[in-house]
Amino acid sequence: MIRFDILTLFPGMFESPFQSSLLQKAREKNLVEIHIHDIRAFAADKHRMADDYPYGGGGGMVMKVEPIAKALESIGPLESADGVLRVLLTPQGELFSQEKARELSRRRRLVLVCGHYEGVDERIREHLIDSEISIGDYVLTGGELAAMVVVDAVSRYIPGVLGNEESAASDSFSEGLLEYPQYTRPAVFGEWVVPEVLLSGNHARIERWRRKESLRRTLRRRPDLLARSRLSEEDKILLKEIEAEGKTVQSPESRVTSSQEEDGKAGLD
Ligand code: ADE
Repeated sequence: MIRFDILTLFPGMFESPFQSSLLQKAREKNLVEIHIHDIRAFAADKHRMADDYPYGGGGGMVMKVEPIAKALESIGPLESADGVLRVLLTPQGELFSQEKARELSRRRRLVLVCGHYEGVDERIREHLIDSEISIGDYVLTGGELAAMVVVDAVSRYIPGVLGNEESAASDSFSEGLLEYPQYTRPAVFGEWVVPEVLLSGNHARIERWRRKESLRRTLRRRPDLLARSRLSEEDKILLKEIEAEGKTVQSPESRVTSSQEEDGKAGLD
């Protein structure tokens, strides 16, 4: 069980994403609890101002410290509480990753503060936040979508959230490789056919093919991931085969954009 508290200026944005699919089921099973807090409700003045002009001038608005401090206070004494982490979503944070999602899933409670406007008063970072996370090197209009991404990726690691046959730990991404190509019925759609090996019923051959295509796809699209992953002796043999196929069929560069490669069918069997 994990509890998320999300502090936001736009609580309405969270209405549907957590009410569908796996996350809704996880909430019904009490595996995941999500509480949304409207920062504006904690603004002291009659206009409910949550932002203000920056000291020193310049454009844009800055999120005020007081409403966020009060919102945090309202959800309980968090500073020294075990297993609690207060996270600010900001493009200046540490880059989010599968590994980070796994790490956060070990917490009992995550408080996610969604940044907005040109930024937040630095005292929020200094005194109210334990960690800062960015979901990628691009700038969103606010931290809300980033918070949703974090809730989703972290929840997958909570036991019982995914079905029995699935587990976040065995995701091929967790293993450091991209997924192999998947197919479902029909076996023939016009001229587009499913690779013969998948219809063969030979499980050893199918496993080998899938591993090879996983390696092929990772090599082509994300060589950085391949360099970091732990490869077995069998993997190294498969990579040699892929390399050899690349030389006889086409140059590796031209195959990156080839639709044949995208379907994972190049140079097979
Ligand atoms: N707020 C705006 N852009 C963001 C990003 N890339 N990650 C997290 N929070 C953000």
